[in-house]
Amino acid sequence: MYKYDFPAGNGMAFRLTTDRLILEDLKEDDHENIRRIATDPVVMRYVLVWLENEEQIAGFLQRGIDEAKRLDRIAYILAARVAATGEFAGLTFLEIDPESRCTGEVGIVLLREYQAYGYGKEILKKYMEFGFHTLSLHRVFGKCDALNHASARLMERCGLTYEGTIREHIWLRDHWRSTRYYGMLAGEYSARQD
Ligand SMILES: CC(C)(COP(=O)(O)OP(=O)(O)OC[C@H]1O[C@@H](n2cnc3c(N)ncnc32)[C@H](O)[C@@H]1OP(=O)(O)O)[C@@H](O)C(=O)NCCC(=O)NCCS
Repeated sequence: MYKYDFPAGNGMAFRLTTDRLILEDLKEDDHENIRRIATDPVVMRYVLVWLENEEQIAGFLQRGIDEAKRLDRIAYILAARVAATGEFAGLTFLEIDPESRCTGEVGIVLLREYQAYGYGKEILKKYMEFGFHTLSLHRVFGKCDALNHASARLMERCGLTYEGTIREHIWLRDHWRSTRYYGMLAGEYSARQD
């Protein structure tokens, strides 16, 4: 079973904090925030999440809210808000593989105006700390479209190792997407903290 340093599945809001951000459970009134992300084609260009219509946006939000209530929580779908102002900056997630329960995937999608200010780095580092220290995961990984240089750079800068590419496995809106995988193992994470 998992060790939790934070409230989980007990009705209390879950949150992680970084230097400038709060990562917390989605709320009903985040629908408009998710729509802002979903309707910006530049933001969504390489994102393998289907938020094409109101139904999908509502479904995504509901899934985040429902997952937060699970006692055996394995998905953390969290809003990133600027700590100083409370403004919504983006969507983030850490999802534990339900089969292995020892691997977690991290994803980040920021509104355009919050990109390239180092927020991605703050979020990914926090999720790695949460994944390895709190959840005792063995492997944390991220994946990105092979054309998504910002995302690849972010994972490389945070010390994840490039593991390989699955070539053109899905049609993503306007192109065949190849997906690059990046991962870190618990031992590698510990070694970096020494
Ligand atoms: C990808 C994303 C999460 C990165 O977060 P970010 O806050 O913009 O990135 P950071 O500012 O922390 O920068 C991380 C590294 O990427 C680099 N980077 C940022 N934007 C870049 C860009 N457009 N092209 C190339 N490199 C870029 C930064 O320079 C930095 O590297 P450095 O430390 O060597 O300078 C963010 O840009 C985003 O949400 N993009 C749209 C949605 C998306 O594609 N999400 C990923 C889905 S897999």
